[in-house]
Amino acid sequence: MKDLKPILKKITEIEDLRRIAERKVPRMFYDYVDSGSWTETTYRSNETDFDRIKLRQRVLVDMDNRSLATQMIGESVKMPVAIAPTGFTGMMWADGEIKAAQAAEKFGVPFSLSTMSICSIEDVAENTSAPFWFQLYVMRDQGFMANLIQRAKDANCSALILTADLQVMGQRHKDIKNGLSAPPKPTLANIINLMTKPQWCMNMLGTKRHNFGNIVGHAKGVEDLSSLSSWTAEQFDPRLSWDDVARIKDAWGGKLIIKGIMEPEDAIMAARSGADALVVSNHGGRQLDGALSSISALSDIVQAVHAENSDIEVWLDSGIRSGQDVLKAISLGAKGTMIGRAFLYGLGAYGEDGVRRALELIYNECDISMAFCGHTDINNVTDDILVKGTYENLKIPNY
Ligand SMILES: Cc1cc2nc3c(=O)[nH]c(=O)nc-3n(C[C@H](O)[C@H](O)[C@H](O)COP(=O)(O)O)c2cc1C
Repeated sequence: MKDLKPILKKITEIEDLRRIAERKVPRMFYDYVDSGSWTETTYRSNETDFDRIKLRQRVLVDMDNRSLATQMIGESVKMPVAIAPTGFTGMMWADGEIKAAQAAEKFGVPFSLSTMSICSIEDVAENTSAPFWFQLYVMRDQGFMANLIQRAKDANCSALILTADLQVMGQRHKDIKNGLSAPPKPTLANIINLMTKPQWCMNMLGTKRHNFGNIVGHAKGVEDLSSLSSWTAEQFDPRLSWDDVARIKDAWGGKLIIKGIMEPEDAIMAARSGADALVVSNHGGRQLDGALSSISALSDIVQAVHAENSDIEVWLDSGIRSGQDVLKAISLGAKGTMIGRAFLYGLGAYGEDGVRRALELIYNECDISMAFCGHTDINNVTDDILVKGTYENLKIPNY
């Protein structure tokens, strides 16, 4: 990989990338990323609950030749971290999904493309060579769904992620107040805000991808923006059930990941559905505000899956902002993790280079923390690295 630009060497934590993204990205898109639903308590506890877990320092252990390499659903990964599917990503940076997918490919971790992406499945496939994962939102229009699944197959996507926690939509106050849309509407407030983001505007002028690439021109009656917003509002299917999971699994015929599991009962259903992985996730605190943090839901789900004798992989997302968070999730039994905002901040700050920097920071923090805890191989890490009493009671507030 080519050397980092000098400016990126001074970026030492994900928080640096967040601050720069906040400056560079138009307000409505930055707010769309950096917010949770309603009071944002779940959004906040996703991060703060990681901080409650403490690590055990070990010394005088040979810490040479360390490795974070492992597998997620049989795919070799440089570390147990994948890029989570996120909507509107091409509004954080021009052609954002392509840039993030290229960064992930070069780094050696999987990239997931959202149904609600700006760059289409075909756009990303044409600009990358590693297979990526496609995330499916289930819509009422069955013809459109069948076509979307076929397009993901034609693009050689190596897994389908079924997002299970968006049958109804959580409310983020800022999105309503900002009048979130892609591209932004030419209101006075937006024009004034865009004037302060020259680099973003120049980059956007250089691409034609300003709209939902998987939908516009593909779904019946959606040829332009005005029809898109009413279409999406009507289309998310609130009737989605475990029967549909079986139907989707058959139609897809490949590896299936179910994302958005927070309770052991649902984890058992996911295991019985024959899915290859489930993601313990509360959608980054964007859906049910007042739900547990994702990390506090993990242990019970790992145990339930274990008791079921299932070989479904348990992954975790929501709240990961550092390599230590990844290490803690792995030590509590996750086989892999996904990151949303951590890569989006990098993308908004510096495009592809920023995503690469976000991945490097997470890698280095995870690697060094693992060494401090006396391990050299991520595959051998267990909850032995955690201080007893700091992780068992995460569900109890202020224990
Ligand atoms: C801006 C944004 C957009 C998202 N869009 C989607 C989406 O289109 N599909 C999906 O399954 N999850 C979506 N998510 C949820 C992420 O896949 C992931 O679960 C979440 O970001 C993890 O939390 P984190 O951001 O704290 O890492 C989105 C999250 C964010 C922050």
